[in-house]
Amino acid sequence: MKKKITVPEIRALKGGSKVATMITCYDYTNAKLVDESDIDMILVGDSLGMTMLGYHGTVGVTLDDMIYHAKHVVKGAPNTFVIGDMPFGTYNVSIEEAVRNANKLFMESGCDCIKLEGGSDMAPVIKAIVKAGIPVCAHIGLTPQSAAMMGGFKVQGKSLEAAQELLDSARAVEEAGAFMVVLEGIPKMLADVITEKLSIPTMGIGAGAGCDMQVLVAQDMLGMNEWVPKFVKKYADLHKIIIDAYNQYVKESNERTFPDHDTQYNAVIEGIENLK
Ligand code: KIV
Repeated sequence: MKKKITVPEIRALKGGSKVATMITCYDYTNAKLVDESDIDMILVGDSLGMTMLGYHGTVGVTLDDMIYHAKHVVKGAPNTFVIGDMPFGTYNVSIEEAVRNANKLFMESGCDCIKLEGGSDMAPVIKAIVKAGIPVCAHIGLTPQSAAMMGGFKVQGKSLEAAQELLDSARAVEEAGAFMVVLEGIPKMLADVITEKLSIPTMGIGAGAGCDMQVLVAQDMLGMNEWVPKFVKKYADLHKIIIDAYNQYVKESNERTFPDHDTQYNAVIEGIENLK
């Protein structure tokens, strides 16, 4: 059986040959499936705003939403390291409030660490949360909670100046005590440099194969959505498999070929014709 990876073991992956993998997950049933697979980590991401709640982005997701989903994932995946995402508005007001909200997510969900978006500006917040005893995964580059500021979901760090800013941010979150950092939506060339210059492991999403670890959104890589971003590979076509199954069920129900002898209860009730 798979053994849950620990924070020191994740740190020790740096520079090694194993590329640890993470997938998003938001519910008990899917958590059980991930737990049975070789995937090392689960992210209960605030992407649940889009995948579970039907929002256009992540900004409407609340701390209670995150706790609700994360605690059921933790229950379904006892052998998988679970990261809980801090949603927008829960760590951008004051350091005290950020620590209070990180404590709440960590304690009430049972997740193994928290993740928050932001680079140099967020370093003091990361430092305070780590000091409080909670492991922090940082997240820089295309940070979906700041999509409005970025003018949409756009690749970041494309100019030399922007690349330097991102490298500075990566160093700042490392210095603040983050034990790993997600690099999202940046050129491979820049992700490779950040990975080489940091001593904590990087986890890429839309950042090329040179990162120490990889993460994808489950609904995208399972092919549940027809449109996916350029950086996603569909490892399955669940969209077709699920719709075909639904339609076959409708067809067989109408043909009265389902339920059949094997999928019904066949007890014989003597005298049933006498029922009034
Ligand atoms: O919320 C999320 O799913 C994420 C990943 C895209 C890294 O932050």
